[in-house]
Amino acid sequence: MSGRLHPLTEPRRAGHEGGRPGEWSRIQALHAVSERHRRSHGCEAYTYSDGASLVVLSAAMHALRVLEFGTALGYTACCLAHGSARGHVDTVEFDAAHVALARENIKNLGFQNRITVHEGEFVAVAQTFSADYDLAFFDGFAPTLPQFQCMERLLRPGGMLITTNLQLGGDAALWRQLLSDERRWMTSDMAEGGRTAVSIKTG
Ligand SMILES: C[S@@+](CC[C@H](N)C(=O)[O-])C[C@H]1O[C@@H](n2cnc3c(N)ncnc32)[C@H](O)[C@@H]1O
Repeated sequence: MSGRLHPLTEPRRAGHEGGRPGEWSRIQALHAVSERHRRSHGCEAYTYSDGASLVVLSAAMHALRVLEFGTALGYTACCLAHGSARGHVDTVEFDAAHVALARENIKNLGFQNRITVHEGEFVAVAQTFSADYDLAFFDGFAPTLPQFQCMERLLRPGGMLITTNLQLGGDAALWRQLLSDERRWMTSDMAEGGRTAVSIKTG
């Protein structure tokens, strides 16, 4: 069990703190860079506003395998990797310009061995992934049913699904309805000021 513990959550040992010195503030700088990019690129890659919640949830889950939908410039992938110092993040992005910038940012932050940016459409790319992720984060545009089914299939029982944009169109209402089925999920709107659902796959 101790092999799965994270520095942020295991008993303190000298020189064994969460993340490298200054890592979190450098990740926060990437948030500002991502927002500047969105304005100049004219894209809709809104940067997630509650990165700290991703750090905390990733650490609390002792997540070793993390799946992300929607890399943009890599900000949230870095948050997830920062939270789980022994975890690996597979993140998927279909915009080639975002992929190139994300890979550069991830390398600059020293996460290149712990974050893999996969280029392509999420559902198509994720079909090549093996199941049993500990944590999955949806931060695409308006959510669709096939995207939900794909993330649900790849998540292990007891794993955590974090879902943004459930107030948008697409199949958002259906996605929310599925997450409120207590035979399969336990859900709380506990992140991003209530705009992001955090769910445990119970069934
Ligand atoms: C809201 S932004 C992600 C922001 C990022 N998580 C962050 O906070 O730094 C959504 C990203 O998902 C990408 N995207 C949207 N739909 C996609 C799909 N079906 N497959 C792959 N990437 C997709 C967009 O190009 C965009 O970069």
